[in-house]
Amino acid sequence: MKKSRIVIIGTGAVGSTTAYTLLLRNRMDELVLIDANADKAAGDALDMNHGMPYLGGAKVWAGTYEDCKTADIIIITAGAAQKPGESRIDLLKRNIAIFDSIIDQVLLQTRDAILLIASNPVDIMAYRSWKKSGLPTHRVIGSGTLLDSARFRYLIGQKLHIDPRSVHAHIIGEHGDSELPVWSLANVAGTELQLSEEDKEEIFTNTRDAAYQIIQAKGATYYAIALALDRICTAILDDEGAVLNVSTLLENYHGVSDAYLGIPCIIDRSGVRSTLELSLTDHEKALFTQSADKMKNILATLEN
Ligand code: 2OP
Repeated sequence: MKKSRIVIIGTGAVGSTTAYTLLLRNRMDELVLIDANADKAAGDALDMNHGMPYLGGAKVWAGTYEDCKTADIIIITAGAAQKPGESRIDLLKRNIAIFDSIIDQVLLQTRDAILLIASNPVDIMAYRSWKKSGLPTHRVIGSGTLLDSARFRYLIGQKLHIDPRSVHAHIIGEHGDSELPVWSLANVAGTELQLSEEDKEEIFTNTRDAAYQIIQAKGATYYAIALALDRICTAILDDEGAVLNVSTLLENYHGVSDAYLGIPCIIDRSGVRSTLELSLTDHEKALFTQSADKMKNILATLEN
């Protein structure tokens, strides 16, 4: 049987934490780490391999782009990260050139893998990867608002003293400042949330601005995004059909097309099997359109 292989490109805080998370959860047979700083990738691989007596199973090594040839999933986390006070969009100029060259090098090796993009601004990077690669959209996925939805569910759960796994609530749109909460559909076991307008305002603000808070406090975010990436990999490798809010190409989604944004998608071995159109209120639709317009305006400023 073919061994399952995940390649991670970029072993900064997000890439290495994702690698460790995937290993702990025994997600794949082979894990390859690639970084522009080959010593960093080699050091991470060595460090993780030294834990094998307590894990067993997966083979981990610092590799090259050639290792992408038989990859099932290629996770891209490479690029500059936000500094305190910077928005994800502020990273665009610094990250686009690095990113384009990564995609080119990956495509020289394979056109069969699923690309899972986590570098910010993730919706722009995922769109660009899809557009430049010519790969089918279902195999180019951005981590989108999966992390934001997790933060949202956690904060709602905290307020209501309910396990966040039992809270059903979505953040959609940009993974960033223009994202929106879908309060009209948020529920616990199908029942309406017992939250005041002030509670909602506080929960959403803390969701949207979580990365700013964490970056201010410790310089970077990496644990929760690593778990979100692990969740997407599991849905793919186990052919789950899980509904996850990832960034995908919009094709007449509430009237919006030709941009990548976070929306609920059914994820299985093919990648994004299909999207689910939420019944949004007029206000939510307007916010979603604004978020899409923001992304499209940015995409329009990028050269080919
Ligand atoms: C996050 O939301 C910085 O995009 C990263 O944690």
